[in-house]
Amino acid sequence: MKKGEVLYKGKAKSLYRTGDPGVLLVEFRDDITAFDGQKKDVLSSKGRLNAQVSAFLFRLLERKGIATHFIDMPDESHMLVKALDMIPLEVIVRNIAAGSLVRQYPFREGTVLEPPVIVIDYKDDSRHDPMLNDDLIIALGILTPDDLAMIKEMALRVNSVLREFFASLGITLVDFKIEFGRTPDGKILLGDEISMDSMRLWDMSTGKSLDKDVYRFSKGDVMEAYNRVAERVCAEDKEVCK
Ligand code: CDP
Repeated sequence: MKKGEVLYKGKAKSLYRTGDPGVLLVEFRDDITAFDGQKKDVLSSKGRLNAQVSAFLFRLLERKGIATHFIDMPDESHMLVKALDMIPLEVIVRNIAAGSLVRQYPFREGTVLEPPVIVIDYKDDSRHDPMLNDDLIIALGILTPDDLAMIKEMALRVNSVLREFFASLGITLVDFKIEFGRTPDGKILLGDEISMDSMRLWDMSTGKSLDKDVYRFSKGDVMEAYNRVAERVCAEDKEVCK
């Protein structure tokens, strides 16, 4: 599949056209950023590890009946995906209170949230991704009430699959962010990535972070943490990490 013109360059991924208008190529770069891009670095192999974990998780979700944009992995740091018209929402599912939830509300870090809590932010860095509610999402014309209900249900299904999978690796899935988009015929699919940049993962035996918090808060060697996750994921599927 040819790597065509660059369509979009985000903070950690670039999107390229391919010969097929319905298919795009996602490159996971070695860039890492935090705090709306105020902190940034380049870490060798980071793109590859996030691409491999994302590809594995998209395949797992597809096997569990969740429709995603994932098509294939042409090499270790690229994913071929279905072209989507992205919905400007960050859908965050939280199993345990951490991060902004603890900063903004009176939760103690580590409090179990049962049932899980869904938070939906408006994806707009210039506005610092403000939190939305159902009425705002509908008033802004982003989703119909039915599509909103469907997206929330999909997010909870994704959470059940991922939570169970990570638990089997000795990792607690604290929270994660996903994004959705529409195909030209209007079908809503899970898009973007699911990686150590977009999840909070805590090692069950040590309680230590194995995700971007290691970078955000200078908690140690972020690549060691990303490698730990990728190694455990890759042990489940040698194909994706070859
Ligand atoms: O990371 P921060 O504390 O600022 O935000 P959060 O709302 O606590 O983030 C919840 C989860 O969503 C974490 O796993 C983040 O890594 C992820 N997230 C993301 O991937 N991209 C964003 N723009 C915001 C959150």
